[in-house]
Amino acid sequence: MSDLVTQLSAACAAAFEAEGFEARWGAVRRSDRPELADFQCNGCMGAAKSQGLVPRDLAAKIAQRISGQGPIERVDVAGPGFLNIRVSSEALSEATEAIRSDAKAGGGTLDTTEKVVFDFGGPNVAKPMHVGHLRSAVIGDTLCRLFRFLGDDVTGDAHLGDWGLQMGHLITELFAEQPDLVYFDPDFKGPYPEVPPVTIEDLGRLYPQASAKAKADPARNEASQLAVAEMQAGHPGYRALLRHFINVSVDALKVDYAFLGVEFDLWKGESDVDGLIPDMVEMLKEKGLAKLDDGAWIIDVAREDDKKEMPPFMVINSRGGTGYHATDLATIVDRMDTLKPDRMLYVVDQRQALHFEQVFRAADMAGLIGEDRLEHIGFGTVNGTDGKPFKTREGGVLRLADLNAMALAEAEKKIGENGLSDEIGEDERARIAALVARAALRFADLQNVRTTNYVFDLERFTSFEGKTGPYLLYAAVRIKSLLRRAKEAGHEPGEVRIESDTERALVLAMDGFANALAQSHAKRQPHILCEHVYSLAQAFSALYAAHPIANESDAGLRGSRLALCEAVLKQLEAGLGILGIEAPERM
Ligand code: ARG
Repeated sequence: MSDLVTQLSAACAAAFEAEGFEARWGAVRRSDRPELADFQCNGCMGAAKSQGLVPRDLAAKIAQRISGQGPIERVDVAGPGFLNIRVSSEALSEATEAIRSDAKAGGGTLDTTEKVVFDFGGPNVAKPMHVGHLRSAVIGDTLCRLFRFLGDDVTGDAHLGDWGLQMGHLITELFAEQPDLVYFDPDFKGPYPEVPPVTIEDLGRLYPQASAKAKADPARNEASQLAVAEMQAGHPGYRALLRHFINVSVDALKVDYAFLGVEFDLWKGESDVDGLIPDMVEMLKEKGLAKLDDGAWIIDVAREDDKKEMPPFMVINSRGGTGYHATDLATIVDRMDTLKPDRMLYVVDQRQALHFEQVFRAADMAGLIGEDRLEHIGFGTVNGTDGKPFKTREGGVLRLADLNAMALAEAEKKIGENGLSDEIGEDERARIAALVARAALRFADLQNVRTTNYVFDLERFTSFEGKTGPYLLYAAVRIKSLLRRAKEAGHEPGEVRIESDTERALVLAMDGFANALAQSHAKRQPHILCEHVYSLAQAFSALYAAHPIANESDAGLRGSRLALCEAVLKQLEAGLGILGIEAPERM
């Protein structure tokens, strides 16, 4: 199935070719002046200029060739040589039917698909997640859904941060509190207990405690460093603790992510590739890439034409330990061994751009995968109303769990104000509030160009009016209830007839779906899809305001509008689904 804009572009391209010009001049897009035309083609000016012709003359020839073709009802030449195109009502009806019967609601597929690994989320074991982690989770999850929808073979990996200093902090702090645990006993022969010695609350307490002490006392920090080094070197008790810390953390993380509708295929982490590091180091030495420098093994990744300073890639530090560089490179080794992806995308804060530049260069130099197949999908920060990175009132990072709870409370308030019937049971009410909160948080984040910063404003995010997640849910809910009522009254959707301007505008809005998805995918920018979904909801609201639908007395018109509603709902839900947003039956 191809959308109207594609059909029109093909017709115009053929006409340009028939006149001896390149097909590219035939590109068609939605009209800037919807009151004058549905679509426009601006190619005549450039094409005519390239051969010293008069643009309006060429436009007249192209217009003649395409006139009456396929969906075209009328072509006008305007101004210096614009082609203004109006499509026929029949073509709009057909387009609506096609969307209604298409499993992808007109979303299309890509010509070439790939096997892609998404590295996103990146929560750190024991360290509380901050709003930056929310961005990575939501943007990453949405891109996974988008890529999958369009046919890519996607694997999403949470890539836990479980190899750094925070592990040392946890171990030493636990030792301070409970030195008698078997994990600290050098003579213990194992096996270690299966029941974890800590709860998630313990982890939430131990880490800040230790990190505060370490800040005040260098010797305390040194102890944590040592503990990490021992853990990395294979200390059996510490390794057993590491496993426990990871399991306890992951269980809690899954709850927070589920609230946001974020899903991962893999829960691997930095610690999983520890076993691959020795061979990787050997390989890097053999290839002459890793060089000894002041007791550390490094790779010089700088290039002649570098505009900014490019520090070396750290394979092994002077303490003999491995860090963020090594685990990321070893993770690439692992993924190339196990998944063999065509491409890897890292959805991580923009401020880590240099790190990824270094890792990507090292991976390329080591022959693991071409640099052009590794992408850092950066994003901006979430700020408070003061314009600085968002903090809680107490000045700390906002935990994801607290953020979710705040959004839920606000959503509960808003659905109350919006007049959700009290007859709805408590469970149902809680479920609706959770869906509203999820929609609010996700859409507020995704609607921004991802590299920009945005201001965190829960009040605005949860509003039922404006460009918000709840507004979109409300549009979907309205269509659902309207279709439900029609069905109860025995009214069936019928043949689509596009007569009014608002109906026409709605179908034209739907026609932009495939293009919005393709652009979103090509640029790795969810906001393009957000724009589409929002304009679709607006076009529906306009129809709803302008015409009776379920109450239309003319049976033919009513059937047509109900069919139109079905098509819109289908596409709205498909679009929202990619954004990870689910609409309830009522709200
Ligand atoms: N855990 C890291 C952080 O909190 C993010 C991990 C990003 N992914 C990666 N492969 N380095 O900053």
